[in-house]
Formats: sequence, structure tokens, C-alpha cells
Amino acid sequence: MATQETLSRDAVLTALRGVALPDGGDLVSRDLVRALVVEDGNIRFVIEAETPEAAQKLAAVRARAEAAVAALDGVTRVSVALTAHGPSAPRRAPASAPAGEPPALKIGRHPTQGPNSVPGVRRIIAIGSGKGGVGKSTVSANLAVALAREGWRVGLLDADIYGPSQPRMMGVSKRPSSPDGKMIIPPVAHGVTMISIGLLLREEDEAVIWRGPMLMGALQQLLTQVRWGELDALLVDMPPGTGDIQLTLCQKFDLAGAIVVSTPQDVALLDARKALKAFTTLKTPIVGLIENMSTFICPKCGHEEHIFGDGGVKREAERLGLPFLGELPLSVEVRLAGDGGVPVSATDSPVAEAYRRMARRLIENMS
Ligand SMILES: Nc1ncnc2c1ncn2[C@@H]1O[C@H](COP(=O)(O)OP(=O)(O)OP(=O)(O)O)[C@@H](O)[C@H]1O
Ligand SMILES: [Mg+2]
Repeated sequence: MATQETLSRDAVLTALRGVALPDGGDLVSRDLVRALVVEDGNIRFVIEAETPEAAQKLAAVRARAEAAVAALDGVTRVSVALTAHGPSAPRRAPASAPAGEPPALKIGRHPTQGPNSVPGVRRIIAIGSGKGGVGKSTVSANLAVALAREGWRVGLLDADIYGPSQPRMMGVSKRPSSPDGKMIIPPVAHGVTMISIGLLLREEDEAVIWRGPMLMGALQQLLTQVRWGELDALLVDMPPGTGDIQLTLCQKFDLAGAIVVSTPQDVALLDARKALKAFTTLKTPIVGLIENMSTFICPKCGHEEHIFGDGGVKREAERLGLPFLGELPLSVEVRLAGDGGVPVSATDSPVAEAYRRMARRLIENMS
């Protein structure tokens, strides 16, 4: 078990911030540290470079990182692996944009045929719900970070074209670049490779009223024109409901499964059933149900209250014979973390532990 009192993840990350890279920045600011585990005095993590060539150049950095962490009080063992994200597979070449600029979103164009898998991506997992505001985006961001902390190479695609949330939740605002004007280089935040339509829309596009075919074109572009690299899983944060986006994603891409998020309220559960039914009709397996806002933990006295009902989603999962991934409390910390661009999963909070258990369960179920 991690003994946060004696040695925290933050202390390790602070030490790693002191390890400079030859081409500027440090291991943490350049986001190269993955799967950091702090168990008693035993520390494990991975330094992940973009390509095998870049990884080779980091051998000395690896040694310095190991020494920096070993020098911390309470550390008994340090194990550091050096890996590469892997060379990206070649993709289809769409029309060029000026060098450095991401290609324009093909508003109004709806490719009739699309590839049904994304090169390099082992599993595409949709995260949906029947009802809006139940925490899909919060769960997607946190689960992505938790899976990355467990060692999976994870991507996160914000498919909510009406109200993209991931730039705020993951703390990313910079417009991604595209050196060849074709492929988009996605930012990496908290160990997760992410893209959101919110990062690509130009001001003039924002006035556009999106119609079904436009949405589908944009979603296909995000899946196929982003240089995802090698990923164990790409999580897709879906817009609320069971509309066009869900249909496109499930029909045109080979999905490993869908996760449905619900709150324990009866009315949310009714909507969750609709989402489950829609995924099932589209022949997308349900790989998990998650109950969000399960209990309220009073920040003052620590009292825990089931304000929206008790265990409804778990019972529903049992009734339908579907995997239940876990419950997440309603917590001010979660909302503040989401608003502040550092998902709670990236911290030492007990909620982060709940997300890690969920991530482990999902990895186990899908491996
Ligand atoms: N467990 C939680 N505790 C506290 N606040 C939460 C929790 N989960 C989500 N929230 C907050 O609730 C609001 C809605 O969450 P979120 O945007 O993740 O929902 P959503 O299902 O993606 O919504 P939409 O349907 O609009 O896409 C956000 O302000 C978020 O910070
Ligand atoms: Mg959302």
C-alpha cells in the first residue's frame, strides 16, 4: 500500500522536475513520466519518449532521474523503465493546409466511407450516457489519467462538438500544430494524448450551426487525421444522448466497447437504459457501468450521504449481467480539479484511488 504520509507522489514529481532534458524543460514539464507508482519506499515509473531514437538519447536522463528519486528520504528502491511511444503508422493523406496549421475541419463534408479502425489504436472505447450533465466528461478525463497511471498508453477524444469540455478539464488551450498541414499533432496532458474539437475550431467556425453530416465528418477527421501513435486505448467522451455522433462512431469504427455513466437517480437510470439499449442495438459491447455522484462526502465533517439514492447503477448492472466498474463520490474537489485543468486522478486524493481501482478493473476485464 502507498504510504502517502511518508512519501508522496508530489515529492517524487518535485524531484523529477529537477531533472533537465538536453533540449530544454524537465521530465515533468515535458510530460514524459508515465505509470508512477509509489508503494512504501518502492518507486516505479516509466519515461516515455516520442520515438525510439528520442528514447535512446534519454539514457543519461534515466540515470539522473533514478539518482534524484533515490536521494529522497524514505526511498528504498527505484525502478525506471525507458520506452518510446512508437513511430506512428502512415495515414491517409487529406488536402494540405499551410505548414504548421492543423487542416481545416471539413464542415459540410460527410465522407461516406471511413476506415473501421484507427492505425496504432488497439481499442476505441466510447463513454456515453443517456442524460446530460451526469459526469461523462469528468469520468472520461479522470479514467484516462488513471489508466495512464496504470501503464496503459491512452488517448482521449472529446467528441462533444456542441460543448467541448476536455480543453478545460485537461488544462490544454494551445491550438495543435500540423507540420505537414495534414496530420494533427495532439497535445499530451497528464500522460494522456488528447484532442478536442474545441482546440481546432477557428473563431469563424464557432458560429456554424452543426448539422448531423457535419458532425460526422468532423468526428471522422478527428479519429483519422490525428497522429495518435501507439495506444492501448482511445477513450471517446461522447455528447449527451443517443444521436448522430454515437451512430457514426459505432457504425463506422470498430469499437472495443462502451462505458455508460449514470447518477443513481431513477430518472438518470431510465436514460442510462436508453443509452445501453442504443449501444446494444449498434452491436457495441458494454464494457462497464459507472455510478457517478454516488455519495456526498461532507468536506467539513466527513459524513457520507447517499443523496441521490443508494447503489442503483450497481443493481442495474447485476440485473443486466453487465460489468460494474465502480462508484464515484460527489465531491467539490472533483469539480474544482476539473475546472482547474488538473483532473483529480492526477493527484493524491482518495477519489484518485477510486479511479485507479476502476482503471485496474477495466484493464483486467479487457485484457
Ligand atoms: N463526482 C463529481 N463530483 C462533483 N462534481 C462533479 C462530479 N462529476 C461531475 N461533476 C461536475 O458536474 C458538472 C457536469 O459534469 P460533466 O461536464 O463531466 O458532465 P457531462 O455528462 O459530460 O455533461 P454533458 O452532458 O453536458 O457533456 C461539471 O461541472 C463537473 O465538474
Ligand atoms: Mg460532457
